[in-house]
Amino acid sequence: MKKNKEIRLEFVECEREAIDDLSVQELINSCYSNLDNAYAPYSHFSVSAAVLLENGKIITGSNQENAAYPSGLCAERVAIFYANSQYPNQKIMALAVAAKYNGKIIELPIPPCGACRQVLVETENRFKNDIKIILAGFKTVIITDSARLLLPLNFDETFLK
Ligand code: THU
Repeated sequence: MKKNKEIRLEFVECEREAIDDLSVQELINSCYSNLDNAYAPYSHFSVSAAVLLENGKIITGSNQENAAYPSGLCAERVAIFYANSQYPNQKIMALAVAAKYNGKIIELPIPPCGACRQVLVETENRFKNDIKIILAGFKTVIITDSARLLLPLNFDETFLK
């Protein structure tokens, strides 16, 4: 039997100025304040991520590159792993991402890479809590209610049993 199936991705796209949720605004502002902490001497693509914990704390991370290129790490995973290592019992509620290329702030939403999506999905499963993903371009913002939506048919721990 052959079935055609479909997975829908629902997301919000808006101008950054149109965001009225104060906690989202604050997370985006923290993300931008952290952008110059990136270490990106090879790609000149600086990325910042800010995660909101259940207790209201905001943790930021930035991409950290290395002369041995694959040894570097994306901003999202730096932020998530730091949050999980310092606050292992705190759910992650939301994550915002912003970027600069050659010193110029990017106006469009920057999507997380596949490896970061995989880590985000695991984090959702671990805490049984959806993470609001805020792709915070300087001008345009995309928001999804869950990381899972950005990685359909993903691999998770259930396949290891
Ligand atoms: N990068 C991130 O930090 N996050 C993303 O979502 C995409 C890419 C970093 C990795 C590398 O340091 C640089 O951006 C260029 O790929």
